Amino acid sequence: MSVFPQPRTSSIGPILDVDREASCLEIEGLSLAYGDKPALRGLALRVPRHRVTAFIGPSGCGKSTLLRALNRLHDLNEEVRHEGRILLEGQDIHAPEVAVAELRRRVGMVFQVPNPFPMSIYDNVAFGLRLLGGMRRRQMDDVVEWALTSAALWHEVKDRLRASAWSLSGGQQQRLVIARTLAVRPEVLLLDEPASALDPISTLKIEELIRNLKSQLTLVLVTHNMQQAARVSDYTAFLQEGELVEYGPTDDLFTNPRLRRTENYITGRMA
Ligand SMILES: Nc1ncnc2c1ncn2[C@@H]1O[C@H](COP(=O)(O)OP(=O)(O)OP(=O)(O)O)[C@@H](O)[C@H]1O
Ligand SMILES: [Mg+2]
Repeated sequence: MSVFPQPRTSSIGPILDVDREASCLEIEGLSLAYGDKPALRGLALRVPRHRVTAFIGPSGCGKSTLLRALNRLHDLNEEVRHEGRILLEGQDIHAPEVAVAELRRRVGMVFQVPNPFPMSIYDNVAFGLRLLGGMRRRQMDDVVEWALTSAALWHEVKDRLRASAWSLSGGQQQRLVIARTLAVRPEVLLLDEPASALDPISTLKIEELIRNLKSQLTLVLVTHNMQQAARVSDYTAFLQEGELVEYGPTDDLFTNPRLRRTENYITGRMA
């Protein structure tokens, strides 16, 4: 018998039906606990490829826990136990043949507070490329330019690539971190409230960037900002107390939520 509490199925609303062929990530019966404290309860959902999927829900509902599970950031926490499966392009990310470093190259993650390394702008973007090795200087220059262009930062930094990353503004630092993540060509980009520490102009830049990136990869965005979810995401999943409540096309979920619980949250009647 499962050590995890089972989801209260009666409260589960409509769940978006994504074809297996169209899914980049498949989450199957995922439960996760910190010690004896459950954080995710029997989550099942598929994340469509080359789309932006937003995870929304009240503070503490498990959004960051879920995002961290998708690139195995819980591996080092001995307290964490999980059951269920996460498939990336059909492959179980916990399979013995999966190397964690390669998984994290394929599934990149950007956090709420920008975390550039204490080195130059160029070296930040080249960091992962150097770890991978085998790239000539000219080729590395090209990839650094491409990544900074994809992150909508190239024009602001092209004349100061040797300057410290810490000399950039907060919004520029967050785009630099996105460029650093993009440089190693991930298939999935996980963004945990990437703009919540930024001013409105920087936030709009990040949102535009997210919309533009979906032609290249699959994006999963955690946000507390309903307008932001509505502006940038194609699909939205609403979580509450570690459970997936409702998941659908963003327009439907925001204009015609099927469950009262979802409606209460998106209309601000519940924190
Ligand atoms: N490292 C940890 N150790 C123990 N419990 C944790 C840990 N991280 C998160 N939790 C707990 O797991 C639950 C889910 O937390 P999580 O950070 O995933 O929520 P969240 O939806 O991202 O919240 P927020 O919107 O505030 O960022 C919470 O009850 C939290 O206290
Ligand atoms: Mg969080």
